[in-house]
Amino acid sequence: MSRIDEIKKRRTFAIISHPDAGKTTLTEKFLLYGGAINQAGSVKGKATAKHAVSDWMDIEKERGISVTSSVLQFEYGGCCINILDTPGHQDFSEDTYRTLMAADSAVMVIDASKGVEAQTRKLFKVCAMRHIPVFTFINKMDREARDIFDLLDEIEKELGIPTCPVNWPIGSGKQFAGVYDRTSQKIDLFEDTMKGTKMGTMKEIALDDPEISNYVTDEAKAVLEEEIELLDGASAEFDQELVDAGELSPVFFGSALMNFGVENFLNYFLKMTSSPLPRTSNQGTIDPIEEKDFSAFVFKIQANMNKAHRDRIAFMRICSGEFEAGMDAFHVQGDKKVRLSQPQQMMASERKMIDKAYAGDIIGIFDPGIFSIGDTITTSPKKFAYEGIPTFAPEHFARVRQVNTMKRKQFIKGINEIAQEGAIQIFQEFNTGMEEVIVGVVGTLQFDVLNYRLQHEYNVEIRLEKLPYEYIRWIENTEIDLENLRGTSDMKKIKDLKGRPLLLFINSWSVGMTLERNEGLVLSEFGKA
Ligand code: G4P
Repeated sequence: MSRIDEIKKRRTFAIISHPDAGKTTLTEKFLLYGGAINQAGSVKGKATAKHAVSDWMDIEKERGISVTSSVLQFEYGGCCINILDTPGHQDFSEDTYRTLMAADSAVMVIDASKGVEAQTRKLFKVCAMRHIPVFTFINKMDREARDIFDLLDEIEKELGIPTCPVNWPIGSGKQFAGVYDRTSQKIDLFEDTMKGTKMGTMKEIALDDPEISNYVTDEAKAVLEEEIELLDGASAEFDQELVDAGELSPVFFGSALMNFGVENFLNYFLKMTSSPLPRTSNQGTIDPIEEKDFSAFVFKIQANMNKAHRDRIAFMRICSGEFEAGMDAFHVQGDKKVRLSQPQQMMASERKMIDKAYAGDIIGIFDPGIFSIGDTITTSPKKFAYEGIPTFAPEHFARVRQVNTMKRKQFIKGINEIAQEGAIQIFQEFNTGMEEVIVGVVGTLQFDVLNYRLQHEYNVEIRLEKLPYEYIRWIENTEIDLENLRGTSDMKKIKDLKGRPLLLFINSWSVGMTLERNEGLVLSEFGKA
């Protein structure tokens, strides 16, 4: 197959959701269709997490969670699918956000009884910032669901994206009879697939087929007809261009656990989502196909795969061309030629070595400590650099002190190296130096990771004092008079390592208040790369 055909068949996406909405179950069902696994229950879940992909860190083993994410690749319907794993439970971290930078689209899984939840909201914001297409899968229809119109209204209001239902459910919970496909005007009938362990034969029936009374009660049919009429009049029409621009979300209903609506969703999704998208660089837009040379950017660094060697793996998203194991390429930020050795791809429970990959794919490359997040690697003589990855707002803060002040050097070295890998962000008091360090993290597990790693790798013992702040904002217009900023009583001024000023708040209310009190002040939730 030619390079162009290989690239065109790639679909690289992430699944975003709040914990327990069904992301793992849905992923598993996708893999079942792709033939990558032949039995549901093989993908890491909470129960099996102890044996998950990355067993490199004791802390992971102790807690039975995976600290870093990976990618699952499989073929289905003529496409080569890359699902980026976005950790969501206690292991929610900045990596979860960064992973979204490598995706071309996102599937948003929503629990039909719960609606839009906190983590979905946060992850959606990143998708919205990138204007990537977002597809909604409303899950758990086999359980009592909330009013569907209310649910869609909530998505539109809370996330600010209009929705377009591609299909529509008939009842929910015990009354769940199936979904009506608005394009084919047929009903896919819900059937028991033994909790989804078998694929299920698709049974569909036209709405006007007299046989329908064998499957759907007259009452449910009448409700469906009424709702369809309402929907045809009120909901946004499907528009591929708006979907591509991330301005309209196609909505699907189903039950991942029962394996219902999953294949249908996958088929529509693969048609509606795109192959690898062009990316912005400092030399203009780079098209994955027109640019024949290999190029990629680093979106995640995983440290310490082998403690004895302090190895790191740099995860890269290939944006153009073809990758071959052991090839030489140019590391733009390091201004040096590098050999890309030991390429790996993660697949469910094992790492495998690969020798070829294409735009759209994710590879893990051995990193002797030279790469940083956002770096570009390319064989193009143009030596362009992709747009950097922003810094995402941490939500937990702690003051960090070393117990033994004699180990100052190791402490500074350790904390800086760990920050460079992107596991934590470090800040300082606005008017002082490095005597005291304020650490910000997206998920609290990173505090434990920091503590553990400083102790085991740098031999430094620290004391963490949690701070009450939850909201951080970068000051966009640094020319503003910081000394005379009129903040709220809970506001704290800090700076990052580059000396850029930031504000910390305990309440979200204070953020708005501070903006109100200081005309012209511009605050951002994302730090510029
Ligand atoms: P997550 O990755 O988004 O956190 O969710 P996960 O797939 O682990 O699903 C969370 C729980 O919801 C699991 O139950 C799972 O079986 C259940 N679930 C997922 N999809 C559906 C669905 O369509 N319908 C129903 N009724 N349940 C669903 P659990 O009891 O927490 O775990 P387990 O013991 O079943 O693995």
